[in-house]
Amino acid sequence: METAPTKWRTAQEIKILDTEDDLAKKAADCFLEVVKRSAQERGRALVALSGGSTPYPLYRQLSQSALNRQLPWQKIHIFWGDERLVPANHEESNSYQAMKRLLYLVPVPPGNIHRVNGELSHAEAASEYKSVISRFVEPGREIPEFDLILLGVGEDGHTASLFPGLYNPGEREDLVISVMSHYGNRPAARVTFTPRLINKARNVYFLVSGGSKARAVKNALSGEYDPLRNPTQRIFLDNGKAVWLVEKSAASLLGDG
Ligand code: 6PG
Repeated sequence: METAPTKWRTAQEIKILDTEDDLAKKAADCFLEVVKRSAQERGRALVALSGGSTPYPLYRQLSQSALNRQLPWQKIHIFWGDERLVPANHEESNSYQAMKRLLYLVPVPPGNIHRVNGELSHAEAASEYKSVISRFVEPGREIPEFDLILLGVGEDGHTASLFPGLYNPGEREDLVISVMSHYGNRPAARVTFTPRLINKARNVYFLVSGGSKARAVKNALSGEYDPLRNPTQRIFLDNGKAVWLVEKSAASLLGDG
């Protein structure tokens, strides 16, 4: 098995934060910087939020008035990098959690919030989401280029809903696919961005917190280069570096060689 190619590894920028709160504050600063720059340069900012609970402290930061007032919410379009196929107001819905903890609290226009329609069937939900996203492709470009994609990492090394041990049909050439993947007691039916779509983004941030993620972080950043087993290694930006914001306990195995 080849070691992680230098090219991949140098395409990852790692910042280790002392606490979950420091991680949230750093992520909020990066969010603000990227979104303001995108809105200034292109008149809009396409942002895809991750699922899971890691971003909750970030949502708290962004909903606080000091930061909130600085964001051009009218120009921000919100998507999700992956979503579980559950009803809109289901506790397991990534979009429901973000609505409750952030988007209902800030002046983002409802028409700028693009959630996956979790009530549809697998294939329909993926197909509908792909057509929504495709509306945002810039003239002369082949596929939409997100300004910011936030990604979580599971204990098993998955990211978005790209899970270890399998490449899903369509994962390499499509933009959005439906998957069935079991992780803990979370809903298995999902829709996810593909690496092809994620790798076109201008900015990708992995947010990782908690000692339970230490093995996955080590495998990704200092283990063998094996994108089948480490889905985060499928994320290899066409332009620029992916930034890993890692809370200290999640980075605790990085120095073990
Ligand atoms: C999902 C997520 C998933 C998540 C990681 C981390 O729908 O489950 O998108 O990719 O980001 O599993 O989840 P936590 O932040 O809850 O640890």
